[in-house]
Amino acid sequence: MKILVTGAGGQIGTDLLPMLLSRGHDVAVYDLAPRPDWCPAGVEWMRGDISVSAEVFDAVKSAAPDRIFHLAAILSAAGEAVPHRTWHVNLDGTRYVLEAARLFEVQQVFYTSTIAVFGPGLEPPVGDDVPLHPTTMYGVTKVAGELLGEYYESVFGLDFRGVRFPGLINAGIPGGGTSDYALYMFVDGMRDGAYEAFCTPESRIPFMYMPDALRAMIELSEAPKEALTRSIYNIAAMSPTAQEIADAVRERVPGVNLTFKSDPKRQAILDSWPAVLDDSNARRDWGWKHEFDLAAMSDDIVPKIRELIESQGQAEGAHV
Ligand SMILES: NC(=O)c1ccc[n+]([C@@H]2O[C@H](COP(=O)([O-])OP(=O)(O)OC[C@H]3O[C@@H](n4cnc5c(N)ncnc54)[C@H](O)[C@@H]3O)[C@@H](O)[C@H]2O)c1
Repeated sequence: MKILVTGAGGQIGTDLLPMLLSRGHDVAVYDLAPRPDWCPAGVEWMRGDISVSAEVFDAVKSAAPDRIFHLAAILSAAGEAVPHRTWHVNLDGTRYVLEAARLFEVQQVFYTSTIAVFGPGLEPPVGDDVPLHPTTMYGVTKVAGELLGEYYESVFGLDFRGVRFPGLINAGIPGGGTSDYALYMFVDGMRDGAYEAFCTPESRIPFMYMPDALRAMIELSEAPKEALTRSIYNIAAMSPTAQEIADAVRERVPGVNLTFKSDPKRQAILDSWPAVLDDSNARRDWGWKHEFDLAAMSDDIVPKIRELIESQGQAEGAHV
């Protein structure tokens, strides 16, 4: 199958591209960033801006994909610094992807939504169908993107589906998300021996290890349409406090110095997100089941991060 991945130059794309290739797919990328060194051979890399409609239409026309994984976006913390640009990239960009999919007969658009669609005050566990009142521009654009995709599905018959990811953790680059403190505890903790988290130790949000997140994308994108009762699904794996993550790192990285200094802006975003998600619809409709809890993830990720640090040295900008 031919798959076009928008925004594949980031945290998810780094792990998604090799996985798609290993499954025998023909893969093309559309991203603002130049082709990175880690991009596997065999992937066609088109450089362009998702917020420029003509460029998106040209890319989709020339790649002629069967399926699009639409990842390109500006994430939560980064988005608050440039809210107008975030609207343009995240929402107009999504509209151009959907419109190009309609025009050039793409079978499916897969959307990567987020727990940032939720606002404060929701009683955990938080299900799929609750009032959505996000407090960030990122969350606003993701709610609107979900609705726009559902419009394209009901009016134009496009197969639109996706997940609301929790904060994702992998041995990769954090992308400016408010959940990045968890990954930095591992990466900076192991590379520099210390990290000061920008949240309180009690902060609790849902997280997921990248292998589970990628499997969720593949499994939902391949699920029979008849089995699905909705387009967008909550998916969950674990909801540790920041303190519990720090303890998991300390158990595996002796002597690491992890401290907390809450940054009011990012703390407010974290506090607006649900502590625990209800993902029972995903578990019922397409058999979603996470594999990694905090302990299993920590056991798996520590040697991987150590390997990356050793192979890439201490250089500024090392790909971890
Ligand atoms: N990483 C997470 O924890 C997380 C959680 C929930 C949802 N998501 C969603 O998953 C998707 C991918 O997330 P990620 O963590 O890989 O993000 P990232 O920030 O690491 O990567 C985003 C990619 O989009 C590209 N991009 C940004 N602006 C663009 C533009 N104007 N035109 C073309 N490309 C552009 C960037 O170059 C980058 O390669 C996003 O839609 C995000 O909202 C991520």
